Amino acid sequence: MGPGPVDVDPRVLRAMSMPLLGQFDPHFTAYMNETMGLYRQVFRTENRATLLVDGSARAGIEAVLASALAPGDKVLVPVFGRFGHLLAEIAARCRAEVVTIETQWGTVFPPEIIETAVRAHRPMLLALVHGDTSTTMAQPLEDIGQICRELGVVLYVDATATIAGMALETDAWSLDAVSCGLQKCLSGPPGCAPVTVNERVEVLVRRRRHVERGLVGPEDEESGAGPVIQSNYLDLGMLIDYWSERRLNHHTEATSMLYAARECARIMLEEGHEPRQSRHRLAGRALAAGLGALELRVFGDPAYRMPNVTGVYIPEGVPGEAVRAALLEDFGIEIGTSFGPLHGRIWRIGTMGYGCTRVNVLSCLAALGTTLRRFGHRASPHEAVAAARAIYEGG
Ligand SMILES: Cc1ncc(COP(=O)(O)O)c(C=O)c1O
Repeated sequence: MGPGPVDVDPRVLRAMSMPLLGQFDPHFTAYMNETMGLYRQVFRTENRATLLVDGSARAGIEAVLASALAPGDKVLVPVFGRFGHLLAEIAARCRAEVVTIETQWGTVFPPEIIETAVRAHRPMLLALVHGDTSTTMAQPLEDIGQICRELGVVLYVDATATIAGMALETDAWSLDAVSCGLQKCLSGPPGCAPVTVNERVEVLVRRRRHVERGLVGPEDEESGAGPVIQSNYLDLGMLIDYWSERRLNHHTEATSMLYAARECARIMLEEGHEPRQSRHRLAGRALAAGLGALELRVFGDPAYRMPNVTGVYIPEGVPGEAVRAALLEDFGIEIGTSFGPLHGRIWRIGTMGYGCTRVNVLSCLAALGTTLRRFGHRASPHEAVAAARAIYEGG
């Protein structure tokens, strides 16, 4: 019950044990096409360029930013936690001109503030984290895409921590590029980053198109006029060619990861977007009610809390790391520590995907309450369980 990676769905583990195929096997290319279709549904998009990047979630971030941002391009990053800083760092490594605005951890940006910053700085690209796992806050995105469209700005969103746990509407919200990982609400292993980009981003990438020397054939178009994308592995243009019907050779596909990603999406879509989101919302509410009954204070602006990861203040005088160690040792339950300014101040408790169950929420509260008593915090575990159960029973 940490903030991810979380328990992998056993169906996904089984899928990963299937016999390996090479990426030119017709069965495998059929799986690739099927997986693109499944992730269009997961991302809620019609984008042709919807594919997997082999690597952890930041490989997806880096593929989009390194391919869309040429040196000197201006990028605006509104930072409300650790992962906003990560976007800014990756953009800076792409030699982009990076402008950041910041808000206190535990809050998000009102859309007007982002709009004002976009108008003031006129970036070529706005990079935003949807849910910043480090602060447990989710930035509302519904209005940002329209603002970007009006101002001619490309909008990239890191949805690693929210995909399949919260609503994310790539097309309806006019998000130009979105990337994520499997290891949170999709209940898969780390090491695969689904990415989707629309035609606006494809145009940028195509301008920098480059075919490896050893692959250039008579029918190949000229390379693009723009600067070559600095990374070969994360060159979205090459990845798009590889995932297209041409199957222009690139890396050796990570077969088992594709099986995993495919199964994650199938499980998610079988449950359905809305039922899955409401399962996460209910768990988040039940957990918060139980934590309140343990006389613990939930972290951050309640209006913008992610339902799938909850920050909670470590009570005064209680050794946070010793409690985490005892929970693991005595109950086999892992909860998360935190980063930067929140380190040592809050724990983060995940209710994600396969692990987002009533049993887990109630067990975690009972175990946490019992452990807290051992360390001198006198709150009642059974009241915490009752408070959470009441939320579940109330619907
Ligand atoms: C919101 C967000 N973005 C990016 C990442 C980076 O993911 P990875 O560690 O898979 O590269 C994480 C990881 O926790 C995350 O929570």
